[in-house]
Amino acid sequence: MREVIISYILPLLFLLLAAAETHAHNVTLLLANHPSLSSFNHYLTQTHLADEINRRTPVTVCAVDNAAMSALTSRGYTISTLRNILSLHVLLDYFGAEKLHQLRDGSALAPTLFQATGAAPGTTGIANITDLIGVKFGSGFVNLTDLTGGKVGFGSEDGGIVSFYVKSIEAVPYTISIIQISSILLSE
Ligand SMILES: *[C@@H]1O[C@H](CO)[C@@H](O)[C@H](O)[C@H]1NC(C)=O
Ligand SMILES: *[C@@H]1O[C@H](CO)[C@@H](O)[C@H](O)[C@H]1NC(C)=O
Repeated sequence: MREVIISYILPLLFLLLAAAETHAHNVTLLLANHPSLSSFNHYLTQTHLADEINRRTPVTVCAVDNAAMSALTSRGYTISTLRNILSLHVLLDYFGAEKLHQLRDGSALAPTLFQATGAAPGTTGIANITDLIGVKFGSGFVNLTDLTGGKVGFGSEDGGIVSFYVKSIEAVPYTISIIQISSILLSE
């Protein structure tokens, strides 16, 4: 049995791992097919969040169109603040169109990259981001709510809904889902 494992099963395992490695996702390339999301894509590269996203599985990226991005970039934030804000738009779970419309109990809290990589509180961390964007992201979770009429709302854990699901952009089931939402998760 031991011989079988070493001579047959182990090599097979390595082959499978190698195959998985070569099929790693690249969010920059996936978004490159969508010119209306080019500014969002640009800032994922500028903030180095693209590398972080490419390392994560499963992951859901909540992208916004160029108009919504320019509303954000016109605020004059530093690149590190932009990184913190955009990291709230990277959910560490797989949410395809189907799952968004079938949330158990009608809503869910999704962990984000902000929690995983956010700066220490007091610098450009959670407290300051909350002040800046006017939405409480105390714990860094995003609240997804399945609304009536097939709409899905996005907001902070306790700050209400500030953005809505628009459509699915790219989906590699259970690896990476890129969806479009109507606006950045900021309050008006
Ligand atoms: C992803 O694609 C971009 C654009 O082609 C490239 O610059 C980058 O090196 C790629 N990243 C990885 C991890 O392959
Ligand atoms: C998500 O937000 C909605 C609307 O504000 C709220 O009714 C719901 O209880 C929240 N869900 C969770 C899991 O916190």
